[in-house]
Amino acid sequence: MSPLAEAPPPPGRVLISEEELKARIGELGGAIARDYERQSPVVVGVLQGAFLFMADLIRAIPIDLMTDFIGVSSYGIGTRSSGAVRLVSDLSMSIEDRHVLIVEDIVDTGLTLSYLKRTLEARHPTSVRVCVLVDKIERREIELALDYVGFTIPNVFVVGYGFDHAGYYRNLRYIAALEPVAGAPERPPLVPPRARMSGA
Ligand code: IMP
Repeated sequence: MSPLAEAPPPPGRVLISEEELKARIGELGGAIARDYERQSPVVVGVLQGAFLFMADLIRAIPIDLMTDFIGVSSYGIGTRSSGAVRLVSDLSMSIEDRHVLIVEDIVDTGLTLSYLKRTLEARHPTSVRVCVLVDKIERREIELALDYVGFTIPNVFVVGYGFDHAGYYRNLRYIAALEPVAGAPERPPLVPPRARMSGA
């Protein structure tokens, strides 16, 4: 990734504060712990964006679990998806006969996650579910079941808390919009996946 020619502009207004992130991640962790008790899931973080979320989320899941990371590339320097998804680094362990929880920072068109789900499902895990911090639901181009969702937000490019623009802003403790935005984020209800989906 090539850097911006100049220093990045200050981000726009805070969309999700540090306190809101902490509280919601606690709720997600609680729901995941209940659903995966005695299943020792492999929690798979999607690099790079999900690394902060992953670190906070697993500390909110008080059950036995293992972690691994997978790297995909789907965006260049702009704020629009190229539509192309590429695996840039693979898992370090086998997930055969394991319960897998993919932890992703954001779902936009859904192309990245749907590619990842297909890729991991082909390795014969017991189950594959998805936890995303932020869902831009109105941008979806492909049908995709999300099992745990932190926040749904309007169609706006966000930065901070792992989200970057041209490589910058990942280290902010909050999530901000890059441009002005109307409408506040929503927290969808945390329904156990088994109540909503058939099968694992
Ligand atoms: P999708 O394939 O269109 O769903 O895009 C998913 C990927 O696009 C995420 O993993 C992010 O890397 C990136 N992305 C989408 N929207 C944003 C955003 O608002 N800020 C930062 N990255 C984003």
